[in-house]
Amino acid sequence: MAFPTDRPRRLRRSESLRSFVRETRLSPEGFVYPLFVCPGEGIRKEVRSMPGVFNLSVDEAVKECGEVKALGIPSVILFGLPEEKDEMATGAWDPNGIVQRAARAIKREVPGLLLMGDVCLCEYMSHGHCGIVDTTGGSYTKARQEADAFVRELELQGKRVIKVGSQSAVATAAAVAPASEEYEIMNDATLELLTKTAVAQAEAGMDIIAPSDMMDGRVQAIRNGLDAAGFENIPVLSYAAKFASGFYGPFREAADSAPHFGDRRSYQMDPANLREAMREIELDLEEGADMIMVKPAMPYLDVIREARSRYDVPLAAYQVSGEYAMIKAAALNGWIAYDRVMMESLLCIQRAGASIMLTYFAKEAARLLG
Ligand code: PBG
Repeated sequence: MAFPTDRPRRLRRSESLRSFVRETRLSPEGFVYPLFVCPGEGIRKEVRSMPGVFNLSVDEAVKECGEVKALGIPSVILFGLPEEKDEMATGAWDPNGIVQRAARAIKREVPGLLLMGDVCLCEYMSHGHCGIVDTTGGSYTKARQEADAFVRELELQGKRVIKVGSQSAVATAAAVAPASEEYEIMNDATLELLTKTAVAQAEAGMDIIAPSDMMDGRVQAIRNGLDAAGFENIPVLSYAAKFASGFYGPFREAADSAPHFGDRRSYQMDPANLREAMREIELDLEEGADMIMVKPAMPYLDVIREARSRYDVPLAAYQVSGEYAMIKAAALNGWIAYDRVMMESLLCIQRAGASIMLTYFAKEAARLLG
């Protein structure tokens, strides 16, 4: 049977009918709000490329969490800007590291909020990579020198070198210079630091451990480490399919975590690969992940859909900084209707199959849903 018997428009005639047959419903219960915690007190510093997102000192982060909970958002994920960076990412696993201090304070002041810890080293490494860089043979120094020389060359040509956090020259070089193949991110040595980080976070009160580094074998290492430390009941949400994406740009400003040379393509995934994403998920589940994540979200809806149909574990998607920044910027220019596009973007990520959404829109969207 077809037209004129079939008339799909019958069910679109009024908002009550449309709402009655709606297949996907947004709710703040699936939201996770990312927070960037920095040292100091009373600090609330807006991220230039992410209007409405701030670097917050621990006291301000606690206030923010109170608001988040009151809006019905169940969870926050914490990222840290340490006082100091080094080549062993000490700030990541130090029991008194910035994220651990924040977790303790939030647990105490805002009980009941689910605390998620992003386990990665890039924010704490002086070179900005997610793992230990092999410096044997001076290749690391060489890569650094190359990057610096490249920036000097740009400046000599009268080009403006844009400052990104504290990493002006090198970050710019990393963005434009040809990637140096002469350094190595050491996988297995990195696992040890990641495990220490996860345990330090669990000790500080994190309810969920979310590794985002993309080293091979990290879920297993972290699971074993958590179990050995008595945290066998703390679940792991792995950033299982995390792509090497240009959409992370604003985050690297927010977290001051851009690599100083090269890029993340030797550990994060090639944006072209769906089958490989399924293999990454499969391996993380075998290693003991309780939940999985696809990241970024909107440009990777097919990956979310495929993961949803193949795996029966809770599926999260991270609507990343660049996705937020694009919508925000277009709206600030008056080019799109902000609320509408924001809600549509979240709805579509959920429709594709994600039931958990990490999003910088969490608070604004929860307000509209409330
Ligand atoms: C850490 C990490 C990143 C993001 C989350 N965890 C940055 C990166 O991989 O460079 C990106 C989040 C965002 O863009 O909002 N590795």
